[in-house]
This record gives sequence, C-alpha cells and structure tokens, in this order.
Amino acid sequence: MDYEKKRIFVTGGAGYIGSHVVKMLGDQGYELLIYDNLSTGNPWAVLYGDLVVNDLNDKEKIIQTLQNFKPHAIIHFAAFIEVAESVGNPLKYFRNNTANALNLLEAARLCGVDKFIFSSTAAVYGIPAENPVAEDAPLKPINPYGASKAMTEKFLEDLAFGDDSFKYVSLRYFNVASADPEGKIGQAYRNPTHLITRAVKTALGDYPQLQVFGTDYDTPDGTCIRDYIHVVDLASAHLEALKYLLAGGNNQVLNCGYGKGFSVKEVVDTVKEVSGIDFKTADAPRREGDPPALIADNRKIVETFGWKPAHDDLFEIVKGAYEWEKTFRERFRE
Ligand code: UFG
Repeated sequence: MDYEKKRIFVTGGAGYIGSHVVKMLGDQGYELLIYDNLSTGNPWAVLYGDLVVNDLNDKEKIIQTLQNFKPHAIIHFAAFIEVAESVGNPLKYFRNNTANALNLLEAARLCGVDKFIFSSTAAVYGIPAENPVAEDAPLKPINPYGASKAMTEKFLEDLAFGDDSFKYVSLRYFNVASADPEGKIGQAYRNPTHLITRAVKTALGDYPQLQVFGTDYDTPDGTCIRDYIHVVDLASAHLEALKYLLAGGNNQVLNCGYGKGFSVKEVVDTVKEVSGIDFKTADAPRREGDPPALIADNRKIVETFGWKPAHDDLFEIVKGAYEWEKTFRERFRE
C-alpha cells in the first residue's frame, strides 16, 4: 500500500509527543494537518503540515476541517497530562480529555473518518496488582487524569463494537521522556512537572533543588518506580499503529513501554551522571495520585506490530533530555 500519500489529521501535533510523531510521519511522506490550540504546544515544533490553531471544544470547526482535509486517519494527542493538576482540577481534565474527545469522535463519524489512534496512558491501571502490567489488567485509575483517559478508551471500544467499519488503536503510554536526536524539537512546557525534565532543569540551575515526592513507598529504595520510554520509540509505535490500521488492522489496546522500571532515585543519579552536576534534592511528602510502581508488559505491541524500540537505555534517554534542554535555552531564551 502507498502509505505515504495518506492524509493524517493530528490533534495536539504542536505538543511534545505529537510533534515527534508529526516529524516521523512527515519524514515518511505522509500528508499532515495539525489541529492544536497551542495551550501547551508551539508552532515552531510543527515541522510538517499545516497548523490549524483552534480548540477541540469547537465541534463545528473540527467538522469543517475534516470535511476539507478528508483524512484517512486521525491521531488524537491533544490533552492535559498532569496527574497532580488533575487531582486539584478534575473537571478541567474531564472537559478537555473526555468531552472534547467526544466532539472529535462525533465529528469523525459525521465525516466518515473510520481509523483512529488514541493517546492513552498507563494511568488507566491505577495501582496494578502486578508489575509489569498487561493490557487485560482491570482499569482502576486513582486520579482524574487516568479516569479521563479510561473513559475515552471506553468510547472507542463501544463505538467499534457497534460499528464494524470503525477501527482504533489505543496506545497506553508509560513515562515518556527525551527528545529528537537531531535537536529540532523536544519538551517545551512553561512549568514542567515531569521528573526527568524537572531534574535536568534543576541540574542547569532553574530550581534550587529537586523534590523527591515520597521516600516511604514499598519499593527497594522507597521511591516510585516508572517505565521511562524514549519519545522517538513512542513515535515509532504510532507509525506502526498507523500502517497497521491503514492496512486493515483490527482494534487494539497496547502498552507502550520497555518492560523495566527505574526509581526516582535512580533517575536522579542518572541525571547527575549525565550532567556532571551534583544538584540538591529534598525528600518531600508523597504526591497525590501517584502509584508506587508502573511497568509495562510490552509483549502485545511487540507481537502485534513487530515494534522494535531503538533507544531503550536510561542514560541515552536522560542525555537526550539534557542536550535538548541546553539547545532549547540557546535557541529560545537568549
Ligand atoms: N517526581 C518527583 N519529583 C518531581 C517530579 C516527579 O519525585 O519533581 C516523581 C513523581 O512523584 C513520580 C515520578 O517522579 O513518582 C514520575 O513522575 P512524573 O510526573 O514524571 O510522571 P507520572 O508518573 O506522574 O506521569 C506520567 C505521565 C502520565 C502517565 C504516567 C504513566 O504524565 O501521562 O506517567 O506512568 F500516565
């Protein structure tokens, strides 16, 4: 099949993960249209395709855009992503991540778009009974962020159940980090909360110290364990998902992670090693909504797509994040 001539509509394509996927698809020759309200995304991050700056609460605009572009598939990234913020402001999350996803799906159905890739999250599992956690584990989110994504997964499941022509892939991301090795794009949040970005910025002097949220978890060193995945490997999972759907593939729900975990302390040590800077840390209380450990059972995505991660190395992930942060400063802050 001539994949590269296909038109793909990408929501949130100016954001961190979306922009890496846009770059990979653009490099492959796909025709792209990006729809993003720029609340956390940046126009400079969109390396391919036209950018429509608008919100997903505007269903009429989505319909009009889809009618003009006539995409073969939709990839839906646009969402809020911070666990702690979602605990304090749950309705913000349900509005954007759930209600606006419903707008997009209604518009897609109306316009006859029947292939859909959804950015889901490991947060749908809550505190899994087993780690690594497989896709058939019960969904018991412990924060509104995870709940908002679990509901959208349910929309997709029910929609596909009732209509055999509609096919979707939900990708459950574990902890995404690092940046484009060419240094063109990377994470650019105004006030990042994610561990690796926060630690890298602490090493570079943006914050006086890094808080370690919770040191009394039932884990080997008492800090939380996560499965950190390089954003380029996550992008290649999307490329595989797209090819799979365009080739007539069936509905899938797939974990995206490496199947191994690192503690907060191990990540901090790696950031110190990469940067050569012994920045300060401070033990802090547990952060609301944090599960102790989340590690992906990734066998299903490997079997289904033949997905081959190429950057499965914490040192490389942290180095990529650190190099990007330095590049970002030079390019945008001086
Ligand atoms: N942490 C710190 N100090 C910080 C920042 C984070 O100790 O300054 C800790 C957190 O408490 C947590 C771990 O580092 O234990 C990872 O936290 P992140 O904020 O980097 O990431 P989360 O695990 O909260 O969430 C991320 C994504 C979600 C996704 C989840 C899946 O934001 O979208 O990973 O594992 F669902």
